Amino acid sequence: MDATIVPKMQKHYPVLLKEIISVISPQHGGTFIDCTFGQGGYTKKILDFKNTNVIALDRDNESEKIAAQLKENFEDRFIFKNIKFSQLSNLKLKNENIRGVVFDLGYSYTQIKDPQKGLSFDANGKLNMKLGLNSYSAEDAINKLDEKELEKIFKFFGDEKEAKYISRNIIKERSKNKIDTQSLVEIIDKSKKRKNFKVHNATKVFQALRIFVNKEVSELINGLINATKVLKKGGVIGVVTFHSLEDKIVKYFFKSLSENKSVSRYSPVVKQADTLFNLIHKKPIIPSEEEVSENPSSRSAKFRYAIKKTDFYNFDTDIKEQFRNYIEIENYGDKL
Ligand SMILES: C[S@@+](CC[C@H](N)C(=O)[O-])C[C@H]1O[C@@H](n2cnc3c(N)ncnc32)[C@H](O)[C@@H]1O
Repeated sequence: MDATIVPKMQKHYPVLLKEIISVISPQHGGTFIDCTFGQGGYTKKILDFKNTNVIALDRDNESEKIAAQLKENFEDRFIFKNIKFSQLSNLKLKNENIRGVVFDLGYSYTQIKDPQKGLSFDANGKLNMKLGLNSYSAEDAINKLDEKELEKIFKFFGDEKEAKYISRNIIKERSKNKIDTQSLVEIIDKSKKRKNFKVHNATKVFQALRIFVNKEVSELINGLINATKVLKKGGVIGVVTFHSLEDKIVKYFFKSLSENKSVSRYSPVVKQADTLFNLIHKKPIIPSEEEVSENPSSRSAKFRYAIKKTDFYNFDTDIKEQFRNYIEIENYGDKL
């Protein structure tokens, strides 16, 4: 959820870069997919190693400008696609030697500072929160969904304890005026009885709206499934998350496919002992104290990875069932 760039130094800072490079080992060459290109921090580092190729994706078309510069130096080894990572399977990558797929979730400092995107509660003007390639905005959600739906979004995606009062007051206010960023902040301030002096009152509601508008749960689940399909035997899938819901999804996906029970029982070629992933670490890798002091917004980052043990991808995962509640809430957006 946090930015990966140091605000005070205005410097680009890819989170957990050293740890990611050591896990995906680009020194051995091969093709890597950077699902969240952003400012290109991970991609540039991978391309520093000879015999590597990178296919980078980002849903924000602003990334295309940075990608175009990189393309000048790495014409034959670098491709950028302005697509969502859930659409990875559209790339038809079956014959590529994919050695690693990385995800660095959330948004970057440049995105949060972009007033047009309206991700920050400091922004003035229209509510937006679209990272790119979206069908609806936070303004649509706040001004069109019903009270119960808004309450669920704030509760499930933001863990907001006072979701009920906030959504009730939104409904009251919007019958008089269209709600924009600052009026939403005021409604939240007025609704919240429990004040928290450490974090801004609007933090949880804004996080919840961002997850909803960008369908982050479905994106992550489909991204993980599609990335696993294109990965070769011995290849690594690694994900940096910034909030507990993302981490729960990644943890469940890796763990459930590292245990015998989750391998497809309909697949005759799979023996009992075969599982899809090898999990080296059960616990996530977190940034060092040094990294956190240099880049405080890295403090909530968690990195999990798994190694694919087979070339096949005929596997069963019940992850959509497991997170059905969240997917159903995201689907409220279908009517907007
Ligand atoms: C934290 S930044 C990545 C920073 C990058 N690792 C770097 O070092 O520059 C996250 C990026 O992921 C992109 N993103 C978020 N969700 C996405 C999705 N579903 N599909 C594609 N890109 C996505 C955002 O637009 C943003 O640029």
